[in-house]
Amino acid sequence: MTLDAPIAPAAGWPAHDPATRRTIPASSRPLDPGRVEALTEQEWARFSAQHPGSAAHHERALGSLPLGVTSSFQHWEPHPIAIQAARGAWLTDVDGRQLLDLSMGFGAMLVGHLNPAVVAAVQEAMDVGTLFVTPSPQATDVAERFKRRFGLDQLRFTNSGTEATMYAVRTARAYTQRHAIIKIEGGYHGGYDALSVSVKPDPAEAGPEDAPTPVVPFDVEAGTVHVVPYNDLDRLEAILAEHAAEIAAVVMEPVLENISIVLPDEGYLAGVRAACDRHGVLLVFDEVKTGLTAGHAGASQRLGVRPDLIALAKSVGGGLPLAAFGGSAEVMAVVGDNRMWHFGTYNGNPLVMAAAAAVDEICTEEALAAAEHLNNEALAAIDEVIAAHELPAHTVGFGVKGAVTWSPTPVRNYRDYKRTDFVAAELSWLWGVNRGILTPPGLDEQWLVSLAHTQADMQLLVDAFAELAAALRA
Ligand SMILES: Cc1ncc(COP(=O)(O)O)c(C=O)c1O
Repeated sequence: MTLDAPIAPAAGWPAHDPATRRTIPASSRPLDPGRVEALTEQEWARFSAQHPGSAAHHERALGSLPLGVTSSFQHWEPHPIAIQAARGAWLTDVDGRQLLDLSMGFGAMLVGHLNPAVVAAVQEAMDVGTLFVTPSPQATDVAERFKRRFGLDQLRFTNSGTEATMYAVRTARAYTQRHAIIKIEGGYHGGYDALSVSVKPDPAEAGPEDAPTPVVPFDVEAGTVHVVPYNDLDRLEAILAEHAAEIAAVVMEPVLENISIVLPDEGYLAGVRAACDRHGVLLVFDEVKTGLTAGHAGASQRLGVRPDLIALAKSVGGGLPLAAFGGSAEVMAVVGDNRMWHFGTYNGNPLVMAAAAAVDEICTEEALAAAEHLNNEALAAIDEVIAAHELPAHTVGFGVKGAVTWSPTPVRNYRDYKRTDFVAAELSWLWGVNRGILTPPGLDEQWLVSLAHTQADMQLLVDAFAELAAALRA
């Protein structure tokens, strides 16, 4: 197990430029619920009028796809917007509308849609071969790049974040010869059974806030999964003290990015690391969403806490299906000596490797810092709007990602998040959509400033938010 000293935050990030930001307004007033309801009704009518093509497409798609979508995250009522093309930071929907994309494939499109360098690399690969299922210099080259960038000794490629987190759990189980895991209440890590426990449970079914009980979906064989609140070292310690002998790993996002953005308290991640070490339990960071969006070496290095295993996906692939899991040589030895089997026909195929190498070239410290600067400027401008209108909301940012959280107080865990104002959040999201700004569907997400976004693009987000604030207080 890695017991190294925490790695220093990545060199090159100025000390005055912290990775995380959260601005709580000095004063706030409640919203008028009648006004929120009336505006929401007005905006849904506007949505329907603007998207006849998407409505028709939805009817057609329902014939072959459950909910009319290829992943249930893509669905919303009455129907989602169907997109037919994307370039840079912009989408074109089936009605021919241009939408500023601030979802960017849930963060996978960090380098922008059809980034010319990624397109060129993939086109070149098309002349060489698309699948060898053998070792290749292309895959070894990307493995070496990831090793350097993310501070890993060894890694393996997979095709999705779900596979990466699943194999990380299996690796931890094989290494420790224990089966149980601990996860964070409200945390999402893909579709693997053990990690489907307490993803977004109904608090009414999830036990006390400071000692949540695991909520297991009816259709999964989860095994033993303990659930702890984020930012609560006492509860983690209590579970470890009682069950450490059975626990293989603590699995968590270092910054929660599936319930908006929830930041670690000062010292929390270092505390988790120390608790894991005391009990001989591995620490697995799911960096599927953070990854390069957190900074050029990922969240663990940006925040200065080294896990034993990391799962990567989304931003590292430039829009092609690439994921990976990796960690210390000692832990990853279980893959080499077959204590844990890892297979996959498409793992490390030359098409996605070409894209990944291009992404690695493009995502320099300078390029990512510039996008982060745009994000911070937008967050600061939205802070001013919130303050001017005394909205019961605040902004949160991490790396190139940002979010408005509809609560006047900080959100530190899943239960806090469940107490935020989802009605205002829905209106805020819909308001943007109707003005040509697409943030991710579902209210759990955050926006992403890609390398293709400009200051003018981000101004559109700020202007739409200012217009909403004025309408809420009119
Ligand atoms: C934190 C986290 N882990 C894992 C996954 C699963 O990744 P994939 O959708 O590529 O299977 C996701 C997907 O959104 C995620 O947000």
